[in-house]
Amino acid sequence: MWKTGTFEAEKFDPASTSTVRWVSYRLLEAGIPPTEKEVAIFERLMFHIQLSGGVYRTTFANRFRDLDPWINAALIKNFHQSTHLQAQDWAASDCLTSSQWAGSLFQLFPNATLTASDLTLFLIEFTNSDGESYFVEPDGNPLQYFRKPFVLNLKDEEPWMFPLNRMLQTRAKRRWEEIRGGMSWPRQWVQSEATEMATPGGVFRKILVVHPKARQLASSNPAFRIAQHSVFEPSPALCHVVRTMNILNKAYFPCDGLRKGAESVYESLLDGGVWIAGRTVRDSPPQHEVTLFRKENGWFRKLDQVGPGSELEPLILG
Ligand SMILES: C[S@@+](CC[C@H](N)C(=O)[O-])C[C@H]1O[C@@H](n2cnc3c(N)ncnc32)[C@H](O)[C@@H]1O
Repeated sequence: MWKTGTFEAEKFDPASTSTVRWVSYRLLEAGIPPTEKEVAIFERLMFHIQLSGGVYRTTFANRFRDLDPWINAALIKNFHQSTHLQAQDWAASDCLTSSQWAGSLFQLFPNATLTASDLTLFLIEFTNSDGESYFVEPDGNPLQYFRKPFVLNLKDEEPWMFPLNRMLQTRAKRRWEEIRGGMSWPRQWVQSEATEMATPGGVFRKILVVHPKARQLASSNPAFRIAQHSVFEPSPALCHVVRTMNILNKAYFPCDGLRKGAESVYESLLDGGVWIAGRTVRDSPPQHEVTLFRKENGWFRKLDQVGPGSELEPLILG
């Protein structure tokens, strides 16, 4: 028994309820402007992608429709409307929710800028001369394998009921280790603006995992930017606001990691700056647990909360 994959957009119905496990990441590609179907496919896939560290890319349109107005109301109490407010949305996944926040934030603070950032803004597709494609993270960690007609997840085991898939998966994982071990990883290309690179072993291609609508906003409005950044590093420029939603979670990182993330936020904020920390506890309708902290007198003071507040509170305030 085996299960073949989906690798042609025409054959994939993003509205269907069937699993997307066997859908190729190649279908993440969308034009600018994107078609409605490209957007629907992108959003459907993005919801389910899990990176090698265990963190999901999960986000979706209007996830923060109730939270954004609450945040904006708090910000207007802390900053004058004419402030050249510099806001940053960290671990923003495909940056769609950041672009939606930008809409209301820029109305309230006409001089504001908003930078949406994430550790991973693209995946890499490596295709060798045998027609095998490996979809990997920018550091080379494998996520998916594709060779017609199979699409195989390289993170989780293929189900027992598909023994051929399991056999091919084991082979693909081993092959990727051999390929990866036999090359020096093209770090320079990864960090460059170039999108494609041909080598004797195969072709590398970047597949953007930034939502087409967020890319469109970034190209039409210079106040909205997209950048690569890790929550464990301070941002390159000091700012007034940092939002970290659904990243500095106990489920993802141990206390040391959470503290390091909090220190990065602290070092990134101007004095009096505001940190919005929280997680989404239910998706439909979205329900969040959030705390607003203010940087003052050498650490953070709590300003306000949504629901019971962020699970980070004991760590930050203790
Ligand atoms: C669950 S998503 C959250 C997306 C968005 N903030 C939201 O709440 O809808 C978590 C994101 O964190 C990103 N991520 C994982 N480790 C990271 C790190 N060290 N620095 C920045 N982003 C990271 C992942 O790429 C993923 O897009």
